[in-house]
Order: sequence, then structure tokens, then C-alpha cells
Amino acid sequence: MRAKIIGTGSCLPEKIVTNETLSAIMDTSDQWIRSRTGIRERHLVSSETETTLSMAVQAAREALSDADILPQQLDLIIVATVSSDYITPAAACLVQKELGACHAAAFDINAACSGFLFALNTVDAYIQAGIYQTALIIGVETLSKILDWSDRSTCVLFGDGAGAAVIKAAEEGMIASLQGSDGNGSDVLVCRNRTNNNPWISTDKSPDYLYMNGQEVFKFAVKKETECIQILLEKAGMEPEEVTYFLLHQANYRIISSIARKLKLPPEKFPTNVDHCGNTSAASIPILLDEIRKDRKLSPGDILLLSGFGAGLTWGAALLRW
Ligand code: UT7
Repeated sequence: MRAKIIGTGSCLPEKIVTNETLSAIMDTSDQWIRSRTGIRERHLVSSETETTLSMAVQAAREALSDADILPQQLDLIIVATVSSDYITPAAACLVQKELGACHAAAFDINAACSGFLFALNTVDAYIQAGIYQTALIIGVETLSKILDWSDRSTCVLFGDGAGAAVIKAAEEGMIASLQGSDGNGSDVLVCRNRTNNNPWISTDKSPDYLYMNGQEVFKFAVKKETECIQILLEKAGMEPEEVTYFLLHQANYRIISSIARKLKLPPEKFPTNVDHCGNTSAASIPILLDEIRKDRKLSPGDILLLSGFGAGLTWGAALLRW
């Protein structure tokens, strides 16, 4: 048996922040952001009650309803995030409590923007091993709280949001997958946690904000994602033309179009939402998948190739039949 996605959901904060709004509070412009990234606007949390948990739960409820699955039927919940409300407990345990998913094991995955794919691959492995049959995976981020709002080179890029998928064991679904990591690249995209702090160590360091070497990440993304797609198709014995849609991590429109060009495929095969969501890290692929499902662009049997990259460095990809 393999993992099959049977329902999707998403949640974006109500507040929309346009490039023009950002230009009013920092030295940037709509022209710069749009031409370098394709981003026009992003959604950001704007109240105490809009949290990583609240967005995850809303996306999860939508996905469960779309799948026609009750929370009590879930035997696994995985949340992919780097911006949980708590260091402990795991966001997945809090989602479980909110949903009343009393039979599920729940834990988080930290693989940055590749997190949703790591979660999907993990569920597929559990299903292949016969351990679990029905799972909920969520990619969710409130990145706005770890951004340095005085660093225009990073803060204009990201947005908040959540995307979820319900997965069931089925004869057909996941066709092939891959994931990988390279800790040697850990310093190009990084956000430090609390530093050592006990009665014997004095430190005045407060938690850091997100730092990114954009150009290094850009080069890595184009090379690694193209490679992942080619390896996965080869593994499955399929041609790129057989794929209905390539759903790539929504970091930058220029990264996505470079990959399409390298694969000699038309841009129509690469739907995007980076223009109105910005980069929502672990949430970007499931939000895009949910948008496409809601726009009725998917038919049973369609082939989807999901692929992402992120801090770690990490990368992941999944080829599946809808
Ligand atoms: O999921 C995480 C994955 N992250 C990514 O995928 C990010 C990948 N990288 C990128 O998307 C691009 O590298 C960026 C969009 C982040 C930057 O684009 P770039 O073409 O690499 O620009 P740059 O960093 O080389 O900066 C060019 C210029 C600099 O000015 P000078 O030194 O040439 O005078 C920057 O100071 O643009 C300036 N700049 C800005 N100007 C206006 C940087 N940020 C801004 C800004 N507004 N927001």
C-alpha cells in the first residue's frame, strides 16, 4: 500500500501586506520585489489569536472535511514547521487536542521549507510498513515573528500561512519519492534558538532572527530541485511530459521559471502562488496544492510532482497519482 492524498485544506491570515505597504515603512519598492521574486503581496498574522496553531487547525479542519474523515479516524498527525508557538509540546500534539484526534500519534518535523515533503515521505514509509493507515500532515509557518524587519533583503520575501493534507493507505498514490540533507550548507539560511542559559553561564544574547544568504540559496535551489525532479522521474520511468503539474516550493518565481526552462517545459505546468502568498516555507506546497484542488484543476489519475528545498540544507520530492 502507498500514501494517497484524499483531502486538502489551507489557511491564510486575513491581513494582506502589499509591496507598496512595505515600501512605506522601509527602503524597498514594488518594482524591486516584483522583478527579483514575483511577489506582489503576502498574508501576515495581525492579532494575538492568529497563531501557528490556529492556522494549522483551520487548515486541518478543511482537509478533514474535504476527505470526509473524522478526527477520531486519524492514527498519525505530523506538523512540519520551524515557527511553532511552543518549544514543547509539539504543535502536532496541540492540533491533536484541538481536533479531538484521540487515536493519533503526533509529532513535529523540522526540515524548513522541505518539511511538508519530509512529512509526506514519512507517512508513506509508515503506510508501506503497515504501521498506520490514515494520517494528517500540515505545513504551517508564522515566519513573520522570526524575521528581522530591519533587513529588507529577507523580510520582504516571506509570508504566514498553513496547508494540510489527509492521507490514506491505498493501492495507488505515491509513485516515488526522495529526500536529502546537507548540513555543510547550514549557515546560508539560519535562525538561532536560545543560547545556553543557567546559573553558571552568563549570556546577554537574545534569540536571533532569520538570516539568509539569498544568492547561495538561489543557486542551490535551481541546481538541486532540477536534479531532484530528474532523478525522481528516472526512478519512476516517466517522462516530464507525463506530469500534469509540477508543484514546487514557492520561494521565488525566478527559481521556478529557471527550473522550467532547464527541463524544457512550458510554464503552464508550474502553477504558482508566490505572487500573493510570498514564501510560506513548509506551508507553501500544501497551500498551492489546496488552491489547485479548489480551482478544480485536478482530475483522478493526474500525475503531480511536488518538490522543495530549504534550510538545513534540505530537499525533498514526491511523485504521485491524484
Ligand atoms: O525558502 C527559503 C528559500 N529562499 C530563497 O529561495 C531565496 C533565494 N534567493 C533569492 O530569491 C534572491 O537571492 C533574493 C530575492 C533574496 C535577492 O535577489 P538578488 O538578485 O540575489 O539580489 P542581491 O541580494 O544581490 O541584492 C541586489 C541589490 C543590493 O544592492 P546593491 O548592493 O547592489 O546596491 C541589495 O542591497 O538589491 C538590494 N536589495 C534591495 N533593494 C530594494 C536587497 N533587498 C532589497 C529590497 N528592496 N527588499
